[in-house]
Formats: sequence, structure tokens, C-alpha cells
Amino acid sequence: MRPRSYRYHSTVRTLSLFASALTCIIVIIQPAFGKVDSVTNIFRPLSQPAQEIKETSFLVLAICAVIFVIVGGLLVYAIVRFRHRPGDEATEPPQVYGSNQIETAWTVLPILIVFVLILVTSRTIADIQNRKPAIGSVSATVVGHQWWWEIRYPELGIVTANELHVAASNEGNHRPTFLKLQSADVAHSFWVPQLGGKTDLIPNRENLMWIAPTEPGTYLGNCAEYCGMQHARMLLRVVVHTPQEFEQWVREQQQPAVEDASASEGRKVFFANSCVSCHAIRGTSAKGVFGPDLTHLMSRQTLASGAALNSHDSLRAWIRDPQKLKIGCLMPNMQMSDKEVDQLVAYLETLR
Ligand code: CUA
Repeated sequence: MRPRSYRYHSTVRTLSLFASALTCIIVIIQPAFGKVDSVTNIFRPLSQPAQEIKETSFLVLAICAVIFVIVGGLLVYAIVRFRHRPGDEATEPPQVYGSNQIETAWTVLPILIVFVLILVTSRTIADIQNRKPAIGSVSATVVGHQWWWEIRYPELGIVTANELHVAASNEGNHRPTFLKLQSADVAHSFWVPQLGGKTDLIPNRENLMWIAPTEPGTYLGNCAEYCGMQHARMLLRVVVHTPQEFEQWVREQQQPAVEDASASEGRKVFFANSCVSCHAIRGTSAKGVFGPDLTHLMSRQTLASGAALNSHDSLRAWIRDPQKLKIGCLMPNMQMSDKEVDQLVAYLETLR
């Protein structure tokens, strides 16, 4: 038999291990319950299908929690009740060789539980996947790039980047936005936790999903599939408007770029450099498709797919050396002089 102090120490060690594991788990999942604007907050869905997904996952969690409590309770009971006691060496515990009732019970019960889980989840999946776009519903194509999001509204003639704008649904007016998800290079994943589940963007394939948010606001999302060096800075925003505001946004985005005579120097810099081979500005000869469309650049909240807020200073820093702000990104340092950078920024700031 082991000395008492050894048993005492091993108990303390086990308990402290358990406590630190529990702390780690709490630290990891806490943000999901805490801040309302937390990116990983999946427990405050404000849209279908996120709502439906939450209900299903809570049911699954509840079933699993009951199983955990029963199994864990029996385990703890057995450990305490049948622990080693002084004098146990003399006798052998009773030997049990099988029980038909117990074996039947622990075979049939899990089968029933798994069957219920299959039914519930497949009903939710079918319900979400079989939703068909109604006449007049908006559809957008989201193309994943290393490391930004191209967003097109083919029927509306709008091309933008990193910010998906949709109209809110309400009780009487259910207007889901349907998304066609594609990739220009590697696999990415579209994930806005409060609005819907994750759906991958896979090269040479088109995946579909839809969202029907009910509360206007800005929702943060991110790429949820490792796609290279700047995967963590492939952030996404979904801006939910009231239907009237959405119409307004559409009208603004449909306009070609404004031509502001005061920024003609910067315009020259833009067209004299190779900016035009990657970026498009509607209404001009710039028709590049490798980088984000800049027609209404200043209407967007962020730069470089959320790497920085869209301000004068970060725009300047971004053009000066994109590799400093987002190392590895495909936008090269154009080696412009300070004067050229200022002129170019002045031009870009006219693209409202
Ligand atoms: Cu795109 Cu990760």
C-alpha cells in the first residue's frame, strides 16, 4: 500500500490539474457569452438561419449534458464507493459475468439517442438548404481571395469588397439575401456568427447560403478556414440596413465614380502606375480584377479586409507600404514618393 502522504499529493495534483483545465475552458468560451459584439458570439443570433442552428445545437448540448452527468456521476460514485480500503487484499471483490438486461439497455438507449440526434439535425439542415429564393430577393456573389472578399450583386450592377450590405427582414416582410460563394484561389470560409453557420468557399465550386437578419447594424465575421499567411486578417462585415436605407445604398453604389477636378494630379499618379492592372474604377479605363473595386472606396469602413479602419492616415500608410500593414498581401509597394502618395490619397478620397 502507498504511504498516505503520496496519496494526498496525487489527489491535490489531480484536483489542481482539473481546476486549470476548467479555467482554460472558461477563458476560451467566455467571450462567446460576454461581449455582444464579440466575433465568436454564436449565442446571440439575430438572423435566420443562425437562430435555427442555435436551437438545434442547444438541444444537442442538453442531450449530451444529461449523458455526461449520468456517466460522470456513476463514475464518481464507483470510484468513491468501491475505493481501496485497508484489509481489501485478503478478499477478492464479487465477480460479475454479464447481465442481459444491462447490456440490452446500454445498446438500445444509445441507438435511440443517436437516432433522435440524426432526425433533429437532418431536419434543420434540410430546412436551411432547401430554402428557395423568392421573386425579388437580393442575391450576391461572394468570392474569396487571398486575403479579401470580393462582393458582387450581378442583378444590381454593384461590385464592392469586404462589406456585404443587405436589407433587414421583419415580421411581415421576410427578405433573405441569397449568397453564392466562390473562391479565386484556395479554400476560404464565410462566417458571420450572429447571422449564420460557416460555409466554405471552394475553388471550382459554388456553395450557396442565405441570411435573413432582422436587426439593422454592423455584424463582424471572418474567414474561418486557414487560407495562408493573412488568414487572420481576412475580416468581413455585414451591414444590415432598413429596406429604405438599403435602396439608398444601392442607388449610391450604382453611380459611376465621381470625377473631381481638384484631384487630377492624384488621378494621373493612379493611371501612370500599375494600380490599374489590379483595380477597377467604374467610369474610367481602370478595369483590373485582381484587387478590390475602388469605385466607392470611401464608402467602406475598413481597408485591406479589416486590417485597418478606412482613415486618411491608414490609407496613406497602406499605399506607402502595404507589406507593413499586411505582410504577404498581394499589393506591392509601388515605391512612390511622399508627394505622389499624398496626391494619390487625395484622389482616392474623392471616390465616395
Ligand atoms: Cu480566407 Cu482564411
